[in-house]
Amino acid sequence: MVLVKVAKKVDIPIGKMVHLEVDGKEIMIANVDEKFYALEDRCGHMNARLSMGTLANTVVTCPQHFATFDVTTGKLISGPKPMQGNVADIFAKCPEEVQKTMMQMAQSMGEIQRVIKTYNRPFYEVKVDGNNLFINI
Ligand code: FES
Repeated sequence: MVLVKVAKKVDIPIGKMVHLEVDGKEIMIANVDEKFYALEDRCGHMNARLSMGTLANTVVTCPQHFATFDVTTGKLISGPKPMQGNVADIFAKCPEEVQKTMMQMAQSMGEIQRVIKTYNRPFYEVKVDGNNLFINI
């Protein structure tokens, strides 16, 4: 492993995540109360960029199907949840044929997504030296 400087602490405010590309790897660094954690920036379900999701304490939620991961370990906590909300409500004002087609599409997508396994994320050790952040690649 190689220690690589990736960012400055001030570049990542508390409660935020940033996307970085380092040595050909996509990495997300999260600032949880001035503690920094780095994971591969790809969801273990269908590869959405986790840094585009939300961070609540040490839990990152994927923006695509809402799987959650622990940023301190990269472990899957829950999910995914393929569809949120009621698809019928979303398309309620559309013509009946459109509603029927959208429901069929949603059901088909849900069936496809249900069988896709979701994996833990690789994580990287973050070292802080002054204002600089380093990760072991
Ligand atoms: S891509 Fe993240 S939960 Fe599906």
